[in-house]
Amino acid sequence: MEVSTARSSLTKKHIEQFIKIVGEEFILVDDESLLHYGHDETERLSFPPEVVIRPLTAQQISEIMIICNNDKIPVTPRGAGTGLSGGALPHLGGVLISTDRLNAILSIDERNLQVTTEPGVITEVLQNAVKEKGLFYPPDPSSRGSCFIGGNIAENSGGPKAVKYGVVRDYVLNLELVLPTGEIIWTGANVLKNSTGYNLTQLVVGSEGTLGIVTKIVLRLIPFPKYDLLMLAPFNSLEKAGEAVSAIFRAGFTPSALELVEIDALKIVSRMVDSSAVPVTDEMEAHLIVEVDGNDTAVLMNDMEAIGELLSQYGAGDLFFADDAQQKAELWKLRRRVAEAVKMDGYTIEEDTVVPRAELPALIRGVKKLGEEQGFHAVCYGHAGDGNLHIRIKKEGTPNSYGDESMMASLRSLFELTQRLGGTISGEHGVGLIQKTYMDIVTNEVNLNLMRGIKRTFDPNNILNAGKIFDARS
Ligand code: LAC
Ligand code: ZN
Repeated sequence: MEVSTARSSLTKKHIEQFIKIVGEEFILVDDESLLHYGHDETERLSFPPEVVIRPLTAQQISEIMIICNNDKIPVTPRGAGTGLSGGALPHLGGVLISTDRLNAILSIDERNLQVTTEPGVITEVLQNAVKEKGLFYPPDPSSRGSCFIGGNIAENSGGPKAVKYGVVRDYVLNLELVLPTGEIIWTGANVLKNSTGYNLTQLVVGSEGTLGIVTKIVLRLIPFPKYDLLMLAPFNSLEKAGEAVSAIFRAGFTPSALELVEIDALKIVSRMVDSSAVPVTDEMEAHLIVEVDGNDTAVLMNDMEAIGELLSQYGAGDLFFADDAQQKAELWKLRRRVAEAVKMDGYTIEEDTVVPRAELPALIRGVKKLGEEQGFHAVCYGHAGDGNLHIRIKKEGTPNSYGDESMMASLRSLFELTQRLGGTISGEHGVGLIQKTYMDIVTNEVNLNLMRGIKRTFDPNNILNAGKIFDARS
């Protein structure tokens, strides 16, 4: 575990001011709390803040920001702490603002198919609340049972449904935002089309908490599809599974999920959750999970049958159809818990590579070759339909952390491979603290300086989540 004890210019006087704003019980300075808020789900890093503040309103956040801005105190916003790129780690010490008390779903507008929510609502809670009205908010990261919608906005999260329904960005209409300088603004309007100047809403989505703290979110919703079918296809070649993925789209199908899980990952997660739902044989290298959804079961059955035939042509073994809700839930549980399981198994470094979909087999081949050359094990899984492959790595005999030189060199090779294939270094987890070292591979100084300029405009004193995505000056 890498622990930092950065200290800022925060004083007792500041803490007293914060107490006046939010009340003493919502200020945490005890060691246990600081340690808790000092880590997220990103490998084994710990950067405790100097104080944790749990405000209730945008107005309180604004007052806190004004103090921090005047005295140049670093501020780190945090949702549920499920991030995988270190975006919520207070690596400079200072103030951590937790959004957990801003946890109300404010209104569900059934006339306009919109929901207005605060950021500290758990994504699945939000999904269930709108589902009760027959509505669907599709983006569903694996952590949806614990992550906050605010964190999803910060990272522009995706998840399995993105392949058909798009990512968080595609659903955000408008945001209430507290700027680092304390002003509270709305970024846009609650409308489906908007050509009114620069799109501040979409600039904030995916900005990883560097431009402001989101305090209200307006999302568009769609009608909930009535039916879904789920199929599992085993392959004895990981690459062939990758090739089958593109074939499905070329044949005109758009599954509502098209996930890949390499066999090692499946074995590890099956052990962890004590499940034998997916039979595993020695010849298998990977499984594809294919879901289709819609309102007409006959169409879905036809589509699934045709996709099954196609997969068989690409060498899939016996197809397994989930018969009922329980089997579907079991399969999805296995898929959603892969990251957690392989991390516990020592694969601490998680990458979030994304390439044009048809390059997936080349990426898989390249990763395995790199592993052989550089002595690391890699397990692959993720959103194959999007070309978004999560690669978990472990290298025997190294600390398996981002501080380790040989690991850093291997990651550089991996990202260079991704770039050569026309891809980039994060599809849905963000750059945060730990991928920023590799930004040079996929961007350049001109682009980075544009980003730095935008950051300066929003945050002239560089106090809000500074040092995430890029450093202020290279
Ligand atoms: C997943 C997370 C790690 O796809 O993005 O499971
Ligand atoms: Zn994912």
